[in-house]
Amino acid sequence: MRDQAWRLRMMVEEKVVPVRGRARVIAVTSGKGGVGKTNISVGLALAAAASGLRTVLLDGDLGLANIDVLLDLHPKRNLGHLIDGRATLEEVLINAPGGVKVLPGASGLTNVADLGLLQKQRLLDAVGRLVEEFDLVLIDTGAGISRAVLDLCICAGEVLVVTTPEPTAIVDAYAMLKVFSKEEDAPRNWLVVNQVLSRGEAQQVSSRMIGLAHQFLGHEIRDCGAIFQDPRVSASVRKRQHFSLSYPSCPAARGVRDLARNLGLSRRQGSQGFLQRIKVLWSGDLSSAHERSV
Ligand SMILES: Nc1ncnc2c1ncn2[C@@H]1O[C@H](COP(=O)(O)OP(=O)(O)OP(=O)(O)O)[C@@H](O)[C@H]1O
Ligand SMILES: [Mg+2]
Repeated sequence: MRDQAWRLRMMVEEKVVPVRGRARVIAVTSGKGGVGKTNISVGLALAAAASGLRTVLLDGDLGLANIDVLLDLHPKRNLGHLIDGRATLEEVLINAPGGVKVLPGASGLTNVADLGLLQKQRLLDAVGRLVEEFDLVLIDTGAGISRAVLDLCICAGEVLVVTTPEPTAIVDAYAMLKVFSKEEDAPRNWLVVNQVLSRGEAQQVSSRMIGLAHQFLGHEIRDCGAIFQDPRVSASVRKRQHFSLSYPSCPAARGVRDLARNLGLSRRQGSQGFLQRIKVLWSGDLSSAHERSV
């Protein structure tokens, strides 16, 4: 009998769902929490949209989604509704300032791997449409080395690792890079140092991390800038408006715009195979479901 598992298996084998993804997909992550991922993701999304890129920001912090809080959005539905079939992609995507679309996260959804087959299929369908309909998909992940975060990063193919100059943040970022470096299909890594006090400090942190990763992990990381510690960031969070909108010429806002430029977000770039990687990641899972069902 041709059931759900069969359809999913066909999908994995690319016989049913054609893979035509075009969007560039970048995950923003960190080893240590609270280093500025969400603020940076939102800032990058705003900068990319201002450059004319159709941009969607996916709240991939599955434990504690909070992009909506930062942007004063009030979503009625989120990723959880989409995955459970209680809302369509159109119903879940909401308009954020600057023309950015936000896919609000599902707080409490801790492990994508635990999703059922139908839920995975819905997620895959939605992702397929995002990479088809947008130029840039930015994913704000949770902190730390959980399977869910790693899977998101590996599937994205490009990962912006955020650290601060604090030794604890640096050590945790290095641990994260170490895990990436061991992956067969290691993502391309970018580094940004947030909350720096001077350009010298930023330079010191990035060259140390890049050197260590090169020497001990054989893993190349690209430095793509630094963002100054700036009291207007916290003031803007309290106002629930991003600092690049409330204080567009403050040092942090300038840093985020430079970061966007260094990442090449001022122009369209091709897909890096996001959908294919998700399918590969789930293929064993889906195939064994097929075997159970026949
Ligand atoms: N450049 C900066 N200057 C000053 N404060 C900053 C800066 N970047 C971030 N912060 C402060 O750090 C706090 C945490 O930032 P944010 O929520 O973006 O971090 P996060 O990495 O997403 O955290 P989590 O790991 O909990 O998801 C912000 O509320 C803000 O007060
Ligand atoms: Mg966050």
